[in-house]
Amino acid sequence: MAIQYNEKVMRHFMNPKNVGEIKDADGIGKVGNMTCGDIMYVYIKVGKDKKGEYVLKDVKFKTLGCAAAIATSDIVIELAKGKTIKEALKITNKDVVKELGGLPSIKVHCSLLAEEALGEAIYNYMKKNKKEVPKELEERHKRALKSEIDFHNKFKGKC
Ligand code: FES
Repeated sequence: MAIQYNEKVMRHFMNPKNVGEIKDADGIGKVGNMTCGDIMYVYIKVGKDKKGEYVLKDVKFKTLGCAAAIATSDIVIELAKGKTIKEALKITNKDVVKELGGLPSIKVHCSLLAEEALGEAIYNYMKKNKKEVPKELEERHKRALKSEIDFHNKFKGKC
């Protein structure tokens, strides 16, 4: 049986606005989904806003994956762009699914890629710039690293 996506999901899948790579990115996050082998990259460019807070000036993604993975990647970027780092770290896969108007239940797990890849890009930026990484983000990174190793072992030579 074919999976039914709502109109908004289809729009972001068919015509994603935030695809691409930032050549001189300040942070890059890469995560993979162990179950299906899909991969997502997030690139961030960080700058300061008028109040001197660090914000995500630009964010792009590249996703090799299913329709839900692409749509959730596109929407997480829309949610994150212009936000402060602190605000961007609060974005969860639930926010992503809600913003898309829902996903079929068997596709909700695909939205985790978006949340994780954004977190990894911010983590990468903070480490590179010797910023203090919040404990929660450190934990998120450890989980992402573990899945990355498992992912590599499972899909070695296939991607
Ligand atoms: Fe792989 Fe959707 S089936 S992320």
